[in-house]
Amino acid sequence: MDLGISGRWALVCAASRGLGRGCAEALVREGANVVINARSSESLEKTAEHLRRLNQNVTVYTVAGDIALEETRHSALTACPQIDILITNAGGPPPGDFRDWSRQDWLDALDANMLTPIELIKASVDSMAERGFGRVINITSAAVKAPIDILGLSNGARSGLTGFIAGLARQPQLAGRNVTINNLLPGSFDTDRLKNTQQGVAQSSGLNYESVRESSRQKIPTQRFGTAEEFGAFCAFLCSAHAGYMTGQNILLDGGSYPGTY
Ligand SMILES: NC(=O)c1ccc[n+]([C@@H]2O[C@H](COP(=O)([O-])OP(=O)(O)OC[C@H]3O[C@@H](n4cnc5c(N)ncnc54)[C@H](OP(=O)(O)O)[C@@H]3O)[C@@H](O)[C@H]2O)c1
Repeated sequence: MDLGISGRWALVCAASRGLGRGCAEALVREGANVVINARSSESLEKTAEHLRRLNQNVTVYTVAGDIALEETRHSALTACPQIDILITNAGGPPPGDFRDWSRQDWLDALDANMLTPIELIKASVDSMAERGFGRVINITSAAVKAPIDILGLSNGARSGLTGFIAGLARQPQLAGRNVTINNLLPGSFDTDRLKNTQQGVAQSSGLNYESVRESSRQKIPTQRFGTAEEFGAFCAFLCSAHAGYMTGQNILLDGGSYPGTY
């Protein structure tokens, strides 16, 4: 299927590794030009080289910096000649006990996982609406639907974003102009983030890393972790010309882990 996004411009945040990189790869394979971002310029440039090899007909720009900072957002937004597709993403907040978190810990989580996506969306959706095409995907977490106790900062900040998006996506001046805004909720994808979390669980519980990984794998109905490639492929479809009738949705990609009927 031709996704109909060849020649479109996409800004993909936090994309040198993991899920963001999976999204950038899938968009580039479909012929979209991309601006990719991450804090470490070394790994970002390596990823950019890889994307250019995947499809020599697209343009790939890089903007290194923390996307939670205003100056990085400004550079990323201006590096993109026009933003047709926006993928918001950033590292997740650290795990812990809410009794230990300071006001600053909460502000950092809100900045990275709620206010940064909102600022990026604010800067791009009205011009998408003027051009009659726009796709925004926020990478959030399955924890929005099924909270994980040690990830309270993530549960809170991402739920705030989710509530805001539910209202925004339904504005007729956006939805009625072919601008869709959806959230993708990853369960367990085999990225550095998942490995680090599992290593943390192993250390704090005294179990070995391999057994923590194995028991977490066995709890997933598909009996495996997801891959960044399949996450990216799903994201690219949601960004496609064919996905204009879906907006304001929270889509779980979790191998069937969420136990509810709806
Ligand atoms: N993997 C999962 O199973 C899973 C499940 C639920 C939710 N999530 C969430 O999905 C998001 C992506 O996770 P992932 O698994 O892809 O993580 P990952 O493999 O650790 O990759 C994170 C990527 O984001 C970049 N990054 C991190 N913080 C950034 C910042 N402030 N500004 C710009 N770039 C930043 C990293 O590069 P630099 O370090 O160089 O900046 C890297 O490219 C996270 O918010 C995570 O909490 C993941």
